Amino acid sequence: MHKTIAPKILYLGTPVVLISSLNEDGTPNLAPMSSAWWLGQSCMLGLGVRGQTYENLARERECVLNLPSVDLVSAVDRLALTTAKSPVPDYKQKMGFAHVRQKFERAGLTPIASEIVKPPRVLECLIHIEAKIVRIHPIGNEDQHLATLEAQVLRVHVEEDLLDSECRHHISPQRWRPLIMSFLEFYSLGDQVHPSRLAKVF
Ligand SMILES: Cc1cc2nc3c(=O)[nH]c(=O)nc-3n(C[C@H](O)[C@H](O)[C@H](O)COP(=O)(O)O)c2cc1C
Repeated sequence: MHKTIAPKILYLGTPVVLISSLNEDGTPNLAPMSSAWWLGQSCMLGLGVRGQTYENLARERECVLNLPSVDLVSAVDRLALTTAKSPVPDYKQKMGFAHVRQKFERAGLTPIASEIVKPPRVLECLIHIEAKIVRIHPIGNEDQHLATLEAQVLRVHVEEDLLDSECRHHISPQRWRPLIMSFLEFYSLGDQVHPSRLAKVF
């Protein structure tokens, strides 16, 4: 029996991305997000416009999309309920968010230089995608303060162990263990359930 419901959120299970961006004073910011999807060489990022990351991306137009694998879940969770924004917006204060400017230190993660963009990469993440923001669109109602940002991929860095042993430009889905957020809880992927006909033609 299907019921009609009015859920507050529709986080149906997507990989977590750690976005590194540059604050106005040149220091790096790092924020977890999971409203991201990929097509071709583009990524659509869904962000609240009252966050520091949105402000940084709208101003600087560049970032690194760092993909944490499941074993980084504690580091990601240490960044939950933090914002680099000061003062902390009222609605976030009510939810118990703290102002944290040094996000790398808070997470216990290591910044390393990027090759094209100014924000640093996260050493411990096995996949780093340097990207520039090419378009920004508001979404939802005005009182939701949400936007999608279209990021164009500039360069992809991948830990060698994740590469397919035959095709060195492919990431092996057998080896990549993304951290998944589903309805605000953390999960990993299960085992492969069926061979894919589509995978054979690409
Ligand atoms: C696992 C996880 C996933 C999140 N996903 C999103 C998201 O998709 N979009 C978003 O705007 N905020 C998301 N957040 C909340 C932001 O991280 C939060 O708003 C944070 O304060 C942003 O930091 P900043 O203000 O320093 O940029 C997520 C948080 C966690 C812990």
